[in-house]
Amino acid sequence: MIIRRVNELRALVRGWKKTGVVGLVPTMGALHQGHLSLVQAAQQGADRVIVSIFVNPRQFNSAADLAKYPRTEAADAALLAPLGVDAVFVPDPDEVYPPGFASEVTVGGVALPLEGALRPGHFAGVATVVTKLFGMTMADRAWFGEKDWQQLQVIRRMVADLNIPVEVLGVPTLRDPDGLAMSSRNARLSAQARARAAALPLWMGRMAAGTPAHEAEAGLLAAGFDRVEYLAFHDAETLDAPRPGHPRRLLAAAWLEGVRLIDNIPA
Ligand code: PAF
Repeated sequence: MIIRRVNELRALVRGWKKTGVVGLVPTMGALHQGHLSLVQAAQQGADRVIVSIFVNPRQFNSAADLAKYPRTEAADAALLAPLGVDAVFVPDPDEVYPPGFASEVTVGGVALPLEGALRPGHFAGVATVVTKLFGMTMADRAWFGEKDWQQLQVIRRMVADLNIPVEVLGVPTLRDPDGLAMSSRNARLSAQARARAAALPLWMGRMAAGTPAHEAEAGLLAAGFDRVEYLAFHDAETLDAPRPGHPRRLLAAAWLEGVRLIDNIPA
């Protein structure tokens, strides 16, 4: 069932909340198997599942990037249909940001390095829309992909800091057989670049196993990547420098054929 209005969604959710747990899978559409794994996790952990599809203009760094983002509502609905989700919430931009909208949620700390430094305003856009989606859907639990590891930590921080009554759950990244993390952006790569993209998880795995960072970066460039923005170990929770005795994560962002790929693995 596609729902476009907040009032309509809330009327349904009020009823659902009397008897069970309501789950939310927030997406920007262009759904692939990775999203479907979030939906399946949500169906196991909630009695009712809402999938939201909203291409959030506030988290894009340029109008060109926003315009390029694929909008595939019919295909998305077809992919979701066999899963039997309870509602697909597809609000218009005006429903989310009505005229006069003047608020913003900004997160410090974990939101500042890496993507935060390279994409100014991105996490404020994410934090604002996720706060709104939590409020609009009144969900009890929400599922996010570990593919966007820093985003997941930013949302966890925000929910804890602001006492937002939503349980945030992460779902491990789904990968193609050659190891490339599934992403809507992969579809933008030519067949040749798509084949080369597997070098990213390959060199990340080598680096996690002890290959020095400069060798891994050189390996990526030799494989055809244009530029490596970051490839480094961080504290898995705070995204600061690794702390002895705390879990680490290896995070990467690299450009291939004009497409920015990100990935992360436990390390
Ligand atoms: O990860 C995404 O697709 C988006 O950042 C999210 C969480 C749906 C917010 O727009």
